[in-house]
Amino acid sequence: MTALNNVQTAHLDAAVDAAREAGNVMRRHLQRPKRVHTATAHDVKLELDIECQRIITRRLARAFPDIPILGEEGVDPVAENAPVRWVVDPIDGTVNFSQGIPHAAVSIARQSRSGGTYQTDLGVILDPFQGELWTALRGRVARRNGRRIRVSTRRRLRDAVLSLGFAKTDRELERMFPAFTRLARRVRKIRIMGSAALALAYVADGRFDAYVESGIRLWDIAAGGLIVECAGGVFTAEASGTGYRYRMRAHNGGVGRELSRVMDSPAEGA
Ligand code: IPD
Repeated sequence: MTALNNVQTAHLDAAVDAAREAGNVMRRHLQRPKRVHTATAHDVKLELDIECQRIITRRLARAFPDIPILGEEGVDPVAENAPVRWVVDPIDGTVNFSQGIPHAAVSIARQSRSGGTYQTDLGVILDPFQGELWTALRGRVARRNGRRIRVSTRRRLRDAVLSLGFAKTDRELERMFPAFTRLARRVRKIRIMGSAALALAYVADGRFDAYVESGIRLWDIAAGGLIVECAGGVFTAEASGTGYRYRMRAHNGGVGRELSRVMDSPAEGA
């Protein structure tokens, strides 16, 4: 494998630094009262979400002023069509974080446009509470804190631990309920942890065997999807509606066929 070129190294370093800066703020505030910016039926946005995106934007823009940012807390219009862009979720798992639950992450990806679509070519996920940093560059191995990681080797759904995500709208919730009832009977355990970025990092790391969510947004999954692939897993994201929403599955490869059969075949219904 060839050595990283200077641009790759500089982009990775900038993304890691930006994630760490935001992560420090998250750690400092975890147990403090937090100001809610807006709340909806199944979600909250904190002032700190916006503050953390500002911190990340400042750090990335200082290093690379020409690369626009598409983030959960604001999209630079240029990023909609730029040749290269950052995709940022400053706090993935905001509801956990808002309640003082230390299961949330910073997620930063770099995407390049090729033809009419974007491909993620760099991914960074930081869990500031556990001190775990996952990184990947397309074509290279995925790492946690610098050490190579791989997806699990389990092949049977009945041995698998699967994570599910429940997005924010009633429509998406309704879509996930059948998946829950179908899968719960067939797997060893289902886990609903509240951070898609960490769920994907856990699939990459062999802790989960699969992760499924419908209605998930690009910034929640861009970095994690690449990290799963670079760890030897399978990641698929099918666009579903506007606003960078996707129907997404990630798994270790081994449980993939059974997972599709259970989820996609009407005969397997709950
Ligand atoms: C949310 C989390 C959650 C997932 C939701 C996401 P946010 O991200 O990743 O696990 O189920 O769909 O929106 O809002 O905390 O960044």
